[in-house]
Amino acid sequence: MASYISRILFVALISLAATSLVFADFNNEFDITWGDGRGKVINGDLLTLSLDKASGSGFESRNEYLFGKIDMQLKLVPGNSAGTVTAYYLSSKGSNWDEIDFEFLGNLSGDPYILHTNVFSQGKGNREQQFYLWFDPTADFHTYSILWNPQRIVFSVDGTPIREFKNAESIGVPFPKAQPMRIHSSLWNADDWATRGGLVKTDWSQAPFTASYRNFKLDACVVASGKSSCSGTAASSGGNQSWLSEELDITKQERLRWAQKNYMIYNYCSDSKRFPQGFPPECQMA
Ligand SMILES: *[C@@H]1O[C@H](CO)[C@@H](O)[C@H](O)[C@H]1NC(C)=O
Repeated sequence: MASYISRILFVALISLAATSLVFADFNNEFDITWGDGRGKVINGDLLTLSLDKASGSGFESRNEYLFGKIDMQLKLVPGNSAGTVTAYYLSSKGSNWDEIDFEFLGNLSGDPYILHTNVFSQGKGNREQQFYLWFDPTADFHTYSILWNPQRIVFSVDGTPIREFKNAESIGVPFPKAQPMRIHSSLWNADDWATRGGLVKTDWSQAPFTASYRNFKLDACVVASGKSSCSGTAASSGGNQSWLSEELDITKQERLRWAQKNYMIYNYCSDSKRFPQGFPPECQMA
């Protein structure tokens, strides 16, 4: 009886929430949270962050999400961006927070950016993987995506998966699935570590540094007042909420292997100096 009722409630909840993919206006979805005018929304569909010697800037989503498939196009700081970091991530609050990170570490003109990724669950990260990109991320906009559902987290670049973090709770690894997260982004100075480990400093004569965002698009479960409503139409009404159980098909798995083989420059799961006692358990599932 109880399970019958909860099933009806579940179906009702999902049907109520049925909306399709959202192509959002930045003004409706995000707040510029810091930077004293250095973050700007232009005509609703373009957002820019800038950094100068006095300050960087940042924004965050108004909504909190518990699972989502989120696309954003970014065009990174061009020219000499050494010392700058553009962070684009999902994060919950509190001391046992969950976090899913993209961080773009700038470089001297013509030298490659590093795309740094990490996954935190319950306050524990240390799961870095880093990549070079197969294009110049400052010449044009490219799409950076996070698929986050109960089974996996997939980081993709222009539709090519570069990293998959699978739910490994069965072997004791906490997975982010209970704490709603907001989307955040910031542009800031990190010249103590970002470029060649801190050797190359920010050249302030090149400031202001600017990164741009457009074409934000998502399917997600939005959490408000303790209730979650998921986009996509529930299967029960003939629709498609496939992102909530999406996995990598054979083609995507091949793309993932291609990206990791050719562009991955650091993987914590193969850093045996760092883990002399053995790799973290989730490394078995890669
Ligand atoms: C910057 O360029 C140097 C030289 O090519 C490279 O070793 C480094 O990985 C690049 N990226 C960063 C963020 O340091």
